[in-house]
Amino acid sequence: MSTKALRNFRPDLHYTPKSGWINDPNGLVYAGGKYHLFAQYGPEPQWGDIHWSHAVSSDLIHWQDLPLALAPDSLGMVFSGSAVYDSGNTSGLGAGGRAPIVAMYTSHGDHEQQSLAVSQDGVSFTKYPGNPVIPNREKPDFRDPKVLKNPNGGWTVVLAAGDHVEFYASKDLISWRQTGSFGPGGNLSKGVWECPDLFPLTLGGREVWVLIVSMGACPENLGSRTQYFLGNFDGRTFTSDGSFTKPEFIDSGFDNYAGVTFFGTEERILVGWAANWVYANNLPTGDFCGQMTLPRVLSLVDTPLGGPRLAGAPVSDRLFGEPVPVSGSLPGEVYKLTVSGEGEAEISLSNSLGEAFLFGVDGTGNIYIDRSCSGARDFDPEFAKPEYGRISAPRFFDGPWTLELTFDRSICELFGDRGTRAFTQLLYPTEPYTSIDIKGNARAGISLIK
Ligand code: FRU
Repeated sequence: MSTKALRNFRPDLHYTPKSGWINDPNGLVYAGGKYHLFAQYGPEPQWGDIHWSHAVSSDLIHWQDLPLALAPDSLGMVFSGSAVYDSGNTSGLGAGGRAPIVAMYTSHGDHEQQSLAVSQDGVSFTKYPGNPVIPNREKPDFRDPKVLKNPNGGWTVVLAAGDHVEFYASKDLISWRQTGSFGPGGNLSKGVWECPDLFPLTLGGREVWVLIVSMGACPENLGSRTQYFLGNFDGRTFTSDGSFTKPEFIDSGFDNYAGVTFFGTEERILVGWAANWVYANNLPTGDFCGQMTLPRVLSLVDTPLGGPRLAGAPVSDRLFGEPVPVSGSLPGEVYKLTVSGEGEAEISLSNSLGEAFLFGVDGTGNIYIDRSCSGARDFDPEFAKPEYGRISAPRFFDGPWTLELTFDRSICELFGDRGTRAFTQLLYPTEPYTSIDIKGNARAGISLIK
């Protein structure tokens, strides 16, 4: 149960629902000059009675809420899925031959099956009368369809099916046949797979396909984690290039799950749900519970220590002015810190109660975040555990480093090594942090919203 809000923890830059619950971002699509963000939504501030909420934005930061898009029906609750702009009206679902937005979602009832809904105006959605379009009676877990353009023409959907993903193809978004599956087994297939995504990026002029899979909450991964694979998609199935033998996460922090990317944008833009199933239902935020990560532009970077890696840069960067040197006191609760250093260093943000959030680079060259003493933690027994306090990950570059931290009241996102290392985490300082202190060979600059 979400407790009474300890204070106003609502972030400014991260999307939150006005009230009630949200988890996964759904149906991310750019259409009609607007970014559409749907979310797994429940009317109470904890998970249940899942609908799709809907918001639109022209800059990915300021969102306008629209009426709920999809409600549960006789096939079940409306679980996660995606949306495409069917510009050629291949589905024939566009009224008068116009291009519709077509959403595919999981109907979660006695079985998990895939259903369609269509919108002519980008606001109201009508469910397809022939649902489900991908029926299922056997697989216990079969969900979170992500539709993309097949590189050879037509459409592909990638679906999570327990310990693997499955690929289906269609010419019209309505009739689908399976073309392949991917599941490496072992450590790489831990958890119940959820919320896949598949897209190409380029690296040194070469096309590389990225498969994203959220892994379900398992103790070895410290709850909910999202991993990625690099490889090839031939229009039928994905083949990993084998670069990773242990799960590689898109974010090394505690709170970035179920991330997927927009359809219809030139840049590849990812939004995740900024929470962890282990404690998500108990956040101390009051009438609302749940927030999205900052949208991040993805790219591939060839790193000296880790080879090709996925990198992210938050779109909010363009809101901030040039950094000015900061030491001693901190203004407000929304800012960006840019810290450059060499070797070991620790940055501490603290308040008059002695609560402090720490981040930096440790003696072994790992980047870390530490919320162990950052504020309220006992609203949930798991959140309060030491393993959900401090976390670190090795650097992918040698030598001097720069860490960029976007701080937004109760959530922060840290990017290091050109975005190849990211840490997203929630934190609940009882009072705002007012001081910054740096140990080691590092200097910090602060940027405020322009
Ligand atoms: C991931 C997930 C999805 C599912 C949805 C239900 O966080 O478990 O697999 O569709 O949440 O709300």
